[in-house]
Amino acid sequence: MTISQVQDAILTLKRDRDICVLAHVYQAREILEVADFTGDSYALSVEAGRTENSRVIMCGVRFMAENVKLLSPEKAVYLANPSAGCPMADQLGAERMRAAMEKYSGSTAVCYMNTTAQIKAMCDVCVTSSSAVKIIKAMDEQDILFVPDCNLGAYVARRVPEKTIRLINGGCPTHVAVGSADVERARREHPGAPLLVHPECVPDVVEAADYVGSSSGIFDYAVKSESREFIIGTEASIAEHLQYACPNKRFYYLSNRLVCPNMKATTLMDLYHCCQGDGGEEITIPEAIFAPAKRCIERMIELGG
Ligand code: 13P
Ligand code: SF4
Repeated sequence: MTISQVQDAILTLKRDRDICVLAHVYQAREILEVADFTGDSYALSVEAGRTENSRVIMCGVRFMAENVKLLSPEKAVYLANPSAGCPMADQLGAERMRAAMEKYSGSTAVCYMNTTAQIKAMCDVCVTSSSAVKIIKAMDEQDILFVPDCNLGAYVARRVPEKTIRLINGGCPTHVAVGSADVERARREHPGAPLLVHPECVPDVVEAADYVGSSSGIFDYAVKSESREFIIGTEASIAEHLQYACPNKRFYYLSNRLVCPNMKATTLMDLYHCCQGDGGEEITIPEAIFAPAKRCIERMIELGG
């Protein structure tokens, strides 16, 4: 089958089997083209509670599919490729979380969206890269334990100096793979091009940037900007999608290492098989953690909306 034949078959299956496809903006272009909704982690969470179809397929990573299930419990929710995890989410288990909560017993626990449902069940509220500063500012609490991304946490701490932000070690292996040497080389090779980076990057890279934002924040900024050339400091797919959206502009990778193997795991054929009912994984959440994990995400949507 050609790519367009597979896409046509997916569109037919979606109609016949009452399926909604949600896709994170790091997904491949041929998947984004057949999705009902695309966005960053925050936008996908908001959309998760709004879909009307009886089946929802997530093209992204596991914690995103878990979020959909938590917000739409009555629907059958599938992760298109069951091997697509998030190494950052997998870094933090319940035991380590309990130890951090004991160490900082006076703090309110806030987790990044990139965590398992089990960790969300232990936290008061979760945040995404596009909503973290706004939500932590809006909270009444002054003393915050932020897990697991110490780079996003450090970014929030610099922007919300009036609060105490406690951090643990953790982060995204893809985004931490770039450093100051990459910034210096990219600036030298593309003088005048603004540097747009994700707050999962290390502080030296974040502080050198002209714009810091989520995956879709970077995309929207570059589309609207008057500049003609950009250095993109997030997963490589964003630079690729931007090139199609703005054929007269030029987009350069901050580093060729900015590739997330998990976000790249899902293929158009995975989505096709999942639409057929012959692939993917149906998501279930243990009953004991369902209600507190759901409350953690709902609180984010209340504070971030
Ligand atoms: P955002 O969608 O918030 O930009 O997060 C990026 C990410 O790493 C998702 O896995
Ligand atoms: Fe996880 Fe980083 Fe990949 Fe996002 S880019 S899914 S945070 S490993």
